[in-house]
Amino acid sequence: MRCSQMVPIATQSSSTNGMIDSAAMTRIEIKPGVIYFPTLLNREEQESLRDEIYVAINAAHLFQSTMPRWGNPMSVKMLNLGSLGWVSDKSGYRYQKRHPVTGEAWPPIFPSLLKLWGRLTNNYAEPEACLINYYSSTAKMGLHQDRDEEDFNAPVVSLSLGDTALFRIGTSERSGPTQSIKLQSGDGLIFDGPARLDFHGIDRVYKETSTLLNEGGRFNLTIRRVTKPVIAAP
Ligand code: SIN
Ligand code: MN
Repeated sequence: MRCSQMVPIATQSSSTNGMIDSAAMTRIEIKPGVIYFPTLLNREEQESLRDEIYVAINAAHLFQSTMPRWGNPMSVKMLNLGSLGWVSDKSGYRYQKRHPVTGEAWPPIFPSLLKLWGRLTNNYAEPEACLINYYSSTAKMGLHQDRDEEDFNAPVVSLSLGDTALFRIGTSERSGPTQSIKLQSGDGLIFDGPARLDFHGIDRVYKETSTLLNEGGRFNLTIRRVTKPVIAAP
C-alpha cells in the first residue's frame, strides 16, 4: 500500500436542485468515477434518516459479521435493508434474502433512500440492498472491493451519519496509490464507472466529532443494485 494523499477539496463543483427535500447539492469529482457530495443531507434530513435506522435496528437487530475462512469478527456491526443483504461468514461473502441470525426477511429500503438513489443515479434500476454498517469509535474497515454484485454497471451510493471517518480509495489494484477524504455526517459519495471496483476502506473514526448519534460512532449506508436489471424487449 503506498502512502495516502489527502484529497484537495473543490476540484469541481456545481449545484442542482435539492436532495430529499430542498437542500442544494454540491458535487465534487475526486477522480473519474468518484463523486463526493458534502452535506448532501442537512441536519433535519440526517436526524430523520437516523430515526428510521433506529426503528429498523430495533425491529431487525444489528449482527456481527465474521471474516471468511478463519471467522474472526469484523469490527463493524451490520444490518441490511432490501430484498437482498450482504453477509460475510466462514463460508465467504454473499448476498442473501434473510437475516443470518433471525432468519427473517430484511426490512425494506426506506422510501427516502429510494428517492435519493433515483436522483443520484439518474433513475438507474431500483437498488436491492442497503448495507448499514455501524462503526464504534475504534472500528475500521480494511481496503476491499465491492465485487459481490452481479451488476458492476450500477453505482454504489454511500451516505455517512455521525462521527467523521477517514475514507481511503485507491485503484482496482490492491497495491495502487490511494487518496483519503474525511467523510462527515450528512456527506454522500458515489463510486461508479472507472472507479466501481476500486479498493476502499475506513482507516479510522474520529471520536466525538458529531452530536447526531447519542451513543457516538458512525453509520455508513451503501445502497447497491445487486442483480443485472432485466432489459425490456423492444
Ligand atoms: C463500505 O465500503 O462498505 C463502507 C465504507 C464506509 O464506511 O464509508
Ligand atoms: Mn465497500
